[in-house]
Amino acid sequence: MKTPHILLLLLVLCQTVTAQTGWSQIRNGQPWYDTQGNVVQAHGGNFLIEDGTVYMVGEDRTHSWYPDVNLYHSRDMQVWEYDGKIIQNGVTTPELGTTRMIERPKLMHCPKTGRYVIWCHYEASDYSASEVAVFSSASVTGPYRLEWSGRPLGIKSRDCNVFVDDDGTAYFISTIQENQHLGLFRLSDDYLRPLECTVLMRGLRREAPAIVRVDSLYYMLSSACTGWDPNQCMLSVSRSLTQGWSPLTPVGDRIAYDTQASGILTLRRGKRTLHLYVGDRWKDPDLPQSKIIITPITLRDGRCHFPYMKTYRLNLRKALVKP
Ligand code: GAL
Repeated sequence: MKTPHILLLLLVLCQTVTAQTGWSQIRNGQPWYDTQGNVVQAHGGNFLIEDGTVYMVGEDRTHSWYPDVNLYHSRDMQVWEYDGKIIQNGVTTPELGTTRMIERPKLMHCPKTGRYVIWCHYEASDYSASEVAVFSSASVTGPYRLEWSGRPLGIKSRDCNVFVDDDGTAYFISTIQENQHLGLFRLSDDYLRPLECTVLMRGLRREAPAIVRVDSLYYMLSSACTGWDPNQCMLSVSRSLTQGWSPLTPVGDRIAYDTQASGILTLRRGKRTLHLYVGDRWKDPDLPQSKIIITPITLRDGRCHFPYMKTYRLNLRKALVKP
């Protein structure tokens, strides 16, 4: 869907304003347009920040099903430039055909190899495959090649995310064994292979996990498994990734403001840290028009304050928000 010229003009104006003031305007609940005037399609994805540039990957749901993976970049999280389809269903993976759905692509940069690595849910149309696919590239913009696909350590795996700990150890976390538990997979130091799996939240049927570390405490947000319909977001905290997660406590409103988590983005400036909840407002009203929702949250003393800000100003460089 193209945006009218007047909106493009506004985008250019926004770019100029942000460049001068450092403040951008985040508008939740409406389509975002890239600098070419197309609706931003980056669902279930994540962000990688390098030298002040924010890269955003996500599902391209333009045609609803069998999404490709898009990459965008921005200096302010308001004006997004399109870098293209970095994974194309059936093209990047011709040997696997076009009948697979790539969901929740998550990008990391591996310090050991210098390569950019993407883990994603790699599914059949009836969700029976329960596999992952791993891609890598020497450059963030591609070309990405398929490293492998299948069930990690032979375990059925669906909704997923990644987490890189302060020591650089990377983890893949996913909903395993027919949505029963979460599996935390510690990855090899090239971020390409799972080494071991720890079962978390046994029998609790959680998905859309999003982990962040604040000092020595890990915070995990997750949802129940209700497909595209939103449900109550829950928080669990622990001092260890592999054990001791606290009982689930509700945060935000009853339906996570009509979203499902795709991640928690951390912005840092000196001693200041800003956490942004990133979620998908699926089917708003249909899959192609699903919205990316980004709202500031506070994580402190094992608690999460999760309000919803429909619009606010964000200063990436200062890690600050203002109403
Ligand atoms: C959701 C999941 C999405 C997608 C959807 C399909 O629960 O979070 O990523 O798989 O189900 O119904």
